[in-house]
Amino acid sequence: MSRVPRRKVTVIGAGNVGATTAQLIAQTGLADVVLVDIVEGLPQGKALDLAEAAPVIGYDVKITGTNDYADTAGSKIIVVTSGIARKPGMSRDDLISVNAGVVGSVVRAAAAVSPDAILIVVTNPLDAMCHVALRASGFPRERVIGMAGVLDSARFRSFIAEELEVSVRDVRAFVLGGHGDTMVPLPRYSTVGGVPITELMTPERIEEIVTRTRNGGAEVVALLKSGSAFYAPAASVVEMVESILLDRRRVLPCAAYLDGEYGISGLFVGVPVVLGQGGLERVVEIDLTDDERAAFDRSAEAVRELVTILPA
Ligand code: NAI
Ligand code: 2OP
Repeated sequence: MSRVPRRKVTVIGAGNVGATTAQLIAQTGLADVVLVDIVEGLPQGKALDLAEAAPVIGYDVKITGTNDYADTAGSKIIVVTSGIARKPGMSRDDLISVNAGVVGSVVRAAAAVSPDAILIVVTNPLDAMCHVALRASGFPRERVIGMAGVLDSARFRSFIAEELEVSVRDVRAFVLGGHGDTMVPLPRYSTVGGVPITELMTPERIEEIVTRTRNGGAEVVALLKSGSAFYAPAASVVEMVESILLDRRRVLPCAAYLDGEYGISGLFVGVPVVLGQGGLERVVEIDLTDDERAAFDRSAEAVRELVTILPA
């Protein structure tokens, strides 16, 4: 009897974010996972280790480690984490030229054998790398989405929950704009049990938490000293993967290529989107106050400046 192959998710980059993402996807049981890296043995070793954890944890998907893109053929989703990560003192933008080359080459190789895949870009500087992936894949905007807003809002949510001593489960938060120092956490749209945090905290305390959210990535880098965050980033990717594979149509903040929404065209910026089986199903437009709008525009402008320095 011939078997129908299971869905496949490819994760490119078997480093901290990639390997943790592969582990979490395997644990969902939703798809086979192919882990790719340029370093020989690294993806194979991590895939083997993950496969050996399966009997203990109880997942039964197949996990393959490889240096060969032929093994990724027919993927439903391709997660791009390959590149170099931030070190102390480095900004995300310092990464741009190295990572543009890496992202362009891996996306071309992966898209060639999975022409219908949905790309989730993680590599930094995130919004600029989304442009590279869009160009290198030739995919429509619906199938090239960046992960940043889920992570940034998770950080915001965790700080709010800690401050108010409530479960993170009851905290919702929105962060718009680029994944950089200009990101725009939105207190008015951030709630605890449905109540806006503007009713629950002083403006000064909210401002401190907003600042901590903006610096959330750097805070972890300063502590780790040898790399950047990966548990929360990987968990954030998997929330997006699940929404796509299960066609959940979650409303999540993601980097999307805007086509007139929010008055912006031809630029990846973090906005709320509906994520379903087609990838980006819809951009959700929300009303912004003048101050929020100005902060959003500043953030979009920072992304635009980065895009202009991308190598041709
Ligand atoms: P890492 O250094 O642990 O892993 C990166 C992996 O990419 C390495 O195993 C490396 O061998 C591989 N790689 C490099 N060039 C490659 C190529 N041409 N083909 C295939 N694999 C290649 O880094 P980590 O911590 O996993 O971070 C990965 C990227 O994700 C970084 O750019 C980091 O800044 C970014 N990041 C973005 C986040 C976001 O919110 N968008 C959050 C966390 C990390
Ligand atoms: C972060 O926000 C490094 O962009 C990464 O943790």
